[in-house]
Amino acid sequence: MKISDEQLALFKLYKNAKPSEKPKIYARIIFNFQPIKKHLDPYIPNSGTVLDYGCGYGIFANYIKTKNEKLKVIGFDISKQRINEAKKTSAKTGVEFVDRLDDFKFDNLKLVLLIDVLIFLNRKEKIELLEKIYTSLATDGIVFIKDTLKSNSLRFKYTYFEERLKLKLKVYGRDVKSELNYITPDEFAKILTETGFNIINLIPENQFIYPGIFIIARK
Ligand SMILES: C[S@@+](CC[C@H](N)C(=O)[O-])C[C@H]1O[C@@H](n2cnc3c(N)ncnc32)[C@H](O)[C@@H]1O
Repeated sequence: MKISDEQLALFKLYKNAKPSEKPKIYARIIFNFQPIKKHLDPYIPNSGTVLDYGCGYGIFANYIKTKNEKLKVIGFDISKQRINEAKKTSAKTGVEFVDRLDDFKFDNLKLVLLIDVLIFLNRKEKIELLEKIYTSLATDGIVFIKDTLKSNSLRFKYTYFEERLKLKLKVYGRDVKSELNYITPDEFAKILTETGFNIINLIPENQFIYPGIFIIARK
């Protein structure tokens, strides 16, 4: 596997991470960065504000900011442990990282990322969040979703097992609810269209052992 200059730059950004977190950050950069970047790049806006909701350590928020320094980029995650690591990178990239979004007061957002976070929200929470995002987006604003592709495949069963184990082991910290809420591509499409979004791309993808889906929708 070839490591790109962008991945090397990300490694450097997290060189001061806590030793207990560093392997998780580096693994995300090694195994998940390229397949996600490939689909994300076409949607990085020229100007305006980007919100990375459930940003974890802030890898994609930082990546977007380094791709276009003119953007204002905000990363939010409920895991204090992850946001603390993300905050260590702020001085270098200028991304604002927060562990609370009490009032979700945004308008004119150009792009919202929901990368591997919606499985932690139940159906009602997903709908409420997507409605808030819809209201906060600029006309033509984009929501970029990456999630697990729910199906009867062995890959899905394995991913489900691995995620349950991660929750048991508190890999995501203590703030994340211990439940997984996978939905099918059709259910995603229904929720998004009922919220008012136009789906512009829906790409199922099987990277390594993990079955994924990318859904890009426009306001
Ligand atoms: C698999 S990680 C993905 C992190 C990041 N998006 C990335 O791609 O590297 C899932 C993240 O979702 C966060 N999360 C879970 N439930 C959440 C919630 N209700 N609100 C915000 N973040 C949440 C977790 O803390 C974790 O950092």
